Amino acid sequence: MPPRPAPATRASGRLVVMVSGTGSNLAALLAAHEDPAYGARVVAVVADRGGIRALEIARAAGIPTAVVSVKDFEDRAAWDAAVTETVAVFSPDLVVLAGFMKLFGATFLGRFGGRIVNTHPALLPSFPGAHGVRDALAYGVKITGCTVMVVDEGVDTGPILAQAAVPVEPHDDEATLHERIKAVEQVLLVEWVGRITREGLRVEGRHAFVG
Ligand code: GRF
Repeated sequence: MPPRPAPATRASGRLVVMVSGTGSNLAALLAAHEDPAYGARVVAVVADRGGIRALEIARAAGIPTAVVSVKDFEDRAAWDAAVTETVAVFSPDLVVLAGFMKLFGATFLGRFGGRIVNTHPALLPSFPGAHGVRDALAYGVKITGCTVMVVDEGVDTGPILAQAAVPVEPHDDEATLHERIKAVEQVLLVEWVGRITREGLRVEGRHAFVG
């Protein structure tokens, strides 16, 4: 078998984690980064809004934080440029979107494209967007789950790295189902961020690999 090409990206371990919510995925990454063998460490947490639990978790862990809110800028392009500069200050090897609810523009993707990963609470390509859990429940699927993907310019359209399934229970509502998905999602995200860091990330068309 011919040798595989070298990884396009080998993350040496500096993670900038971007958040908009309760920070359960961030907390899982922070627990993992305590172990030097994990290979990655969270060097900053950047949010698109203040007053969220995720920022409290970051501060309690002594991680530098920044908030870059769309409302503080004239337009999305100006916000995109500002958030790019903010993240760049921390020289990330990998940008991890852990419940970050904004889409990036050309500036951010031009700077960090190919080394941004996101997590989504549904089995893509089904149920993309901001309401993946609600939409899966409304559709009546019996199995849903979560997806870790490489970010491209679309809404949850990037090459898929990993997925895990979660059964829908008969009496689930959005909150109960999302809680069970989040428990699985945290494990999946931690595992694949660690693998990218230790083994490198390679993207070939629609296909994303580590190693
Ligand atoms: C996760 O399920 C993520 O996939 C979705 O929002 C949730 C964020 O949870 N976009 P948390 O902020 O990590 O607790």
